[in-house]
Amino acid sequence: MEIVRTKVKDLLKMEAGVEVLAKGWVRTKRGNKEIAFIALNDGSTIKNIQIVIDKNEAMNPLLARISTGACIGVRGKLVESVGSGQDVEIKASGIEIYGECDPVRYPLQKKDTSFEYLRTVAHLRPRTNTFGAIYRLRSQMAFAIHDYFHSKGFVYLHTPLITESDCEGAGQMFQVTTLDLENIPRNKKGNIDFSKDFFGKQTSLTVSGQLEGELGATALGEIYTFGPTFRAENSNTPRHLAEFWMIEPEMAFYDIKDNMDLAEDFIKHLVSYALEHCMDDIQFLSDRYDPELVERLKSVVSTEFVRLEYTEGIKILEEAKKNGVEFEYPVFWGADLQSEHERYLVEKHFGKPVILTGYPKEIKAFYMKQNPDGKTVRAMDVLFPKIGEIIGGSEREADLGKLEARITELGMSRQNLEWYIDTRRFGSCPHSGFGLGFERLLLFITGMQNIRDVIPFPRTPKNAEF
Ligand code: 4AD
Ligand code: MG
Repeated sequence: MEIVRTKVKDLLKMEAGVEVLAKGWVRTKRGNKEIAFIALNDGSTIKNIQIVIDKNEAMNPLLARISTGACIGVRGKLVESVGSGQDVEIKASGIEIYGECDPVRYPLQKKDTSFEYLRTVAHLRPRTNTFGAIYRLRSQMAFAIHDYFHSKGFVYLHTPLITESDCEGAGQMFQVTTLDLENIPRNKKGNIDFSKDFFGKQTSLTVSGQLEGELGATALGEIYTFGPTFRAENSNTPRHLAEFWMIEPEMAFYDIKDNMDLAEDFIKHLVSYALEHCMDDIQFLSDRYDPELVERLKSVVSTEFVRLEYTEGIKILEEAKKNGVEFEYPVFWGADLQSEHERYLVEKHFGKPVILTGYPKEIKAFYMKQNPDGKTVRAMDVLFPKIGEIIGGSEREADLGKLEARITELGMSRQNLEWYIDTRRFGSCPHSGFGLGFERLLLFITGMQNIRDVIPFPRTPKNAEF
């Protein structure tokens, strides 16, 4: 009788006594004269299934070809395991080799596989226990995000990746063009003639789906986007990617407080989802790298986030400096906070996540709602232990005149923003939103130290391999 393949995750939950077929990659092979043991993993779980093979004339030639990394199928009886570590194992009656694995050249054979080294073999690192765990967590979290918003009635809106506007106004955009770079068309003034380009104008990869998100929110009520985001900032830090994923909810009739409430609830929900559904992988990462991981995750779920005005935050940091705390970057009212400042507030001063609001308008984007003081805007950054900024958002400037004035003040080109300004012309409404950096969330949930290790194929300055 033909037996169908069962995934390792399910095999480990089955009762002994049945014939099964498992398929996967060999993690280890060991044994003695009579018996061989293979630990087989198929990616469905961090755990392996143990295969027990009686050495005999039929099996020996096959066993000789099997080494770490090889891909095999194993038929046999699921039996109770006498060894520790697992309840059941497979007593093999037949083995098929799908792909051998050269034991000399296989890069994961080495004992010392640092994260730096593994990034150079990012095409194979999913085969390691650590990256298997991280990518499963990444997938689970993506699902949890969709689940959260759908259960709240938000509409998933797809915003474009190719755009002509710079939402954050930071000019850190990757240009999209089909112009011949060896022979760029120029107009009479000598400037590049973008009318000859594919879209007939200058375009880039998006730095945020927010502006289009606002179009959705001011019609559908509550929307979210979840997609790739691109920033051409030359930041070689453990927290920046040139290509990352962002989740951006945008809600009509939410003020800044509603926005903060949603952000706090959202992130707590995601962390509890991970604790509830992904404990095998989290426990593995915690045992291996970060003994405090589980406690840190639990504490975020159970604690109330601090809500603090930027001005108060600056006072605390200035006080800290007076008391001898050293920061690399200056602290003064008006300064853009660096991650050292954010982490001081979160890790040292409060010992819990902080939502900072009321930032100086000069250091924030044009679309944020201006406060009556004329100096600050209704921005909110959610700051997390070990990470710093994990969420950035705001209430939006809903007033046409004020928005236009700010655009002029900043010397922005209105030309490709008129469609956006229309939201304030036609039935404008109070609204708010925020962006959660997906990889920053994953840094927190996995306890990893470097953002390059929570995305399968990281793009950073001078690195777009694989
Ligand atoms: O604070 P940011 O720049 O906010 C926006 O883009 C808004 N338009 C969001 C909104 O209100 N809809 O980015 C939001 C988040 C940051 O808090 C951070 O978590 C993440 O995106 N982020 C990055 N993650 C990885 N690499 C980078 N280079 C990132 N830049 C921002
Ligand atoms: Mg920000």
